[in-house]
Amino acid sequence: MSDTMDFDEPISRRAEAMYLTTDLTEVRRRTIDTMRLFPGARVLDVGSGPGLFADEMAQVVGPTGCVRGVDISEPMIELARARCDDKPWVDFQIADAVSLPFGDGGFDACVSVQVLEFVADVDAALREFHRVLKPGGRLAVSDADWGATAWRSEDAALCEQVMDGWTSGFAHLRLPLTLKSRIEAAGFVDASAHAIPVFNSACEPEGFSFHLIRQIQGVVPGRTNLTQEEVDAWAQELRGLNERGAYFFSQTRYLFAADKPR
Ligand SMILES: C[S@@+](CC[C@H](N)C(=O)[O-])C[C@H]1O[C@@H](n2cnc3c(N)ncnc32)[C@H](O)[C@@H]1O
Repeated sequence: MSDTMDFDEPISRRAEAMYLTTDLTEVRRRTIDTMRLFPGARVLDVGSGPGLFADEMAQVVGPTGCVRGVDISEPMIELARARCDDKPWVDFQIADAVSLPFGDGGFDACVSVQVLEFVADVDAALREFHRVLKPGGRLAVSDADWGATAWRSEDAALCEQVMDGWTSGFAHLRLPLTLKSRIEAAGFVDASAHAIPVFNSACEPEGFSFHLIRQIQGVVPGRTNLTQEEVDAWAQELRGLNERGAYFFSQTRYLFAADKPR
């Protein structure tokens, strides 16, 4: 699974719509709550995507603080810059999680949400997060357990093929299972782990899975030998279940927080 997802312009725009849902707004709220931010803090967002985290953290740290975002996708960096245009204490640049363009010990906090699941060398990235944090700095990392996603379908074979096509864009299918140990191995202490359920009993625009269906329809035909018609048929079946009140989507995200020793 090394051919990870390329967050081009259409994928980035659909992802942005997904992150604005109630489900992922709650993931941001819980993540930011665990980061112990304060006015004047220096914060790094690795894999900053469309800048929603950076924007919300910037409101907490205020103009006496600073927020730096890095991402490998130019379209994502453009969305993030547009979002945070009114906050000169926020800045974004292209960089890889495994090679951060910052000196040692410059940040009070570092966050990386739904990014490491795309990064082949997770341990190298965690060592970078540790390096750029100050002694006593705070880390928050969150990823989804894609291998345990429950999505009702009456065509199990097609559903499995579609999900295989989708998850082939990830470097790690079940990263949360090993993340706490990896965070500790990178030198962090007092690591905690919490589950954040994302459950949709209806397929509605406020929910994560509504947008995930659209993202999958856009991505999977180009990644696999499934045709657009086959992937559209899968999506149509799920929408049919929804019309009958029989829709079911459930996935667990995991939030890890830890400290760099003083
Ligand atoms: C699912 S999005 C999450 C965006 C954001 N963290 C959020 O939760 O709103 C994943 C992001 O990670 C970025 N990404 C993937 N691999 C990366 C890497 N090696 N270094 C930096 N960013 C990366 C992608 O370009 C994309 O913007």
